[in-house]
Amino acid sequence: MTSINEQPIPAARPVIGEEEIEAAVRVLRSGRVVQGPEVAAFEEGFSELVDGRHCVAVNSGTSALHMLLLALGIGPGDEVIVPSFSFAASANAVRLVGADVVFADIEPGSYGLDPAAVEAAITPRTAAVMPVHLYGHPAAMDKLMPIAEKHKLAVVEDACQAHAAALNGTPVGAFGAGGTFSFYPTKNMHSLEGGMVTTADAELARTLRLLRNQGMEARYANEIVGANMRMTDVAAAVGRVQLTKVGGWTEQRRANAAYLDAHITAPNVTTPPVAEGARHVYHQYTIRVQGDRDAAMAKLTEAGIGNAVYYPTPIHRLKPYWEPDQKAGRNWDLPETERAAAEVVSLPVHPSLSEGDLARIADAVNSLGENL
Ligand SMILES: Cc1ncc(COP(=O)(O)O)c(C=O)c1O
Repeated sequence: MTSINEQPIPAARPVIGEEEIEAAVRVLRSGRVVQGPEVAAFEEGFSELVDGRHCVAVNSGTSALHMLLLALGIGPGDEVIVPSFSFAASANAVRLVGADVVFADIEPGSYGLDPAAVEAAITPRTAAVMPVHLYGHPAAMDKLMPIAEKHKLAVVEDACQAHAAALNGTPVGAFGAGGTFSFYPTKNMHSLEGGMVTTADAELARTLRLLRNQGMEARYANEIVGANMRMTDVAAAVGRVQLTKVGGWTEQRRANAAYLDAHITAPNVTTPPVAEGARHVYHQYTIRVQGDRDAAMAKLTEAGIGNAVYYPTPIHRLKPYWEPDQKAGRNWDLPETERAAAEVVSLPVHPSLSEGDLARIADAVNSLGENL
């Protein structure tokens, strides 16, 4: 039970501080609120997180994925290999461009796509593979990139949860044809809502800039069919403030995770794995519970420890995917995905946790008991 002086510890705590508020007000007072100088400066600043790649800001992580697939020319008749153990946006973007989603299983050690499963899922129609850097842990890009090169597949990185994560020194978003980031409030940094596409290809970046703005570079001189996926300057100004802080926040998340790794000792609980060479940025600190997960979560909630399951239903079991697959008699064999969906629980790891909070989280997990 939470005692009177022990406030519940929320699972996430988005920061909207005085600096963010001042930045937003400054832009609002300027009268220049749609995509303008703040967006350009945010793009330039974010580029430092992705080894200097071109950055194109849009209005959400989902739009980033959607625009990137469009810019790569992926559409009807194409297949894209996606993990089912992700947020629905990963697969939704594929369906939004009219391509077919092919689900491949994950590795339990990274929660990212299993390279062997990807290779087995390739068909003559495969146009792209979408590794998701889930929870802030990089997918196995060292093994996925050679497979994609061998089969001439575009690599679309979903780095929406993984700002500043890296594998063997290369930041996520700098491996594939393009990378995508989300700036939703609960992410490691935010812009209220927002997204970013990153790419080394200047032509692709230009196409993305056209696509987000009705196909126009010069006003009313439309070059291609595009949408309105623009980021506002208010959002970009908030994002720029957060960009100055994300480095420190990431180190705090990593330190919080190290504390929990060292202090969680319950026998029926596994702390998050970290692959060799991976820099995990702990968007989520996700344990696995062997036993009655619902009971474990209820006990954590009772102890005032915020907790959540990302994601209880793998994408292939969600109605818009499950029903057409059932009709077509298509069944996916995704044992690691199913196992993870049944066992994972994410605990608070955000940078505003105090040492007392961390001790309470570890104690609550350790007192779950052996016979859940
Ligand atoms: C893995 C993943 N992909 C895509 C998205 C979509 O980002 P957004 O919510 O900004 O559209 C999210 C976040 O919500 C995500 O976690």
